[in-house]
Amino acid sequence: MDVTQAVTSRRSIRHFLDKPVDPAVLKQVLETARRSPSGGNTQPWNAIVLTGQPLADFTAEMKRRVAAAPKGGETEYDIYPEGLEGRHERERVGVGESMYGALEIAREDKAARIGQMMRNFDSFGAPVQLFTYTRKYMGPPQWSDMGMWLQTIMLLLREAGLDSCPQEIWAQWGLDVKELLGIDDAHIFFCGMAIGHRDPAHAVNRFDVSRASLDETVEWRGFGG
Ligand SMILES: Cc1cc2nc3c(=O)[nH]c(=O)nc-3n(C[C@H](O)[C@H](O)[C@H](O)COP(=O)(O)O)c2cc1C
Repeated sequence: MDVTQAVTSRRSIRHFLDKPVDPAVLKQVLETARRSPSGGNTQPWNAIVLTGQPLADFTAEMKRRVAAAPKGGETEYDIYPEGLEGRHERERVGVGESMYGALEIAREDKAARIGQMMRNFDSFGAPVQLFTYTRKYMGPPQWSDMGMWLQTIMLLLREAGLDSCPQEIWAQWGLDVKELLGIDDAHIFFCGMAIGHRDPAHAVNRFDVSRASLDETVEWRGFGG
């Protein structure tokens, strides 16, 4: 698999097969992802990886807490900025509509929509979760470094025949996540990442996810033509 294939075959997987992940492969992916770039080589990323009983225990307790505070617990950052608009808001709404459309869940069927959203807390059936965090004093440049590291991991997972879904939904209960994982208050939780093998047949893994055109995002100057 070349880089282009890794990029184009990666998608957020929301239904995983019941198939374990080889720990040696996962370790090699994280080992290689250490080569991700970061401003000043600060490498602001940290992660805790869970599988098996520790993941089952974490999942059970988080689901209890989510049920008790369904609108979210205490959070440390806003997942989306206030006033998200234009193409950003259009795409945010659009991907949800495409997903529910593929699952044949109607707009009015709130219970089914919530049911699908709750699948996040089962890691969509993935056997592994990678929870990421950084020091609280890190700013936007370091958060972008975290993103590069996460994408590096996701692409290396593709090369290893594995799939992923980054999950910031956990951050809506970020303080609960930190408490259960033993992450101290000098740090801020960023997101989870479900890791496993995709179910290629499942509709939730097959719908088209749109992207803004280059014309909307990139301006070319001095290239002629
Ligand atoms: C940092 C980050 C957090 C995300 N959090 C969630 C999440 O909590 N639940 C979810 O279903 N998808 C989540 N996604 C997946 C996005 O919805 C997805 O990347 C986007 O719609 C583009 O689709 P694709 O990844 O399939 O190409 C997240 C993606 C990123 C990069």
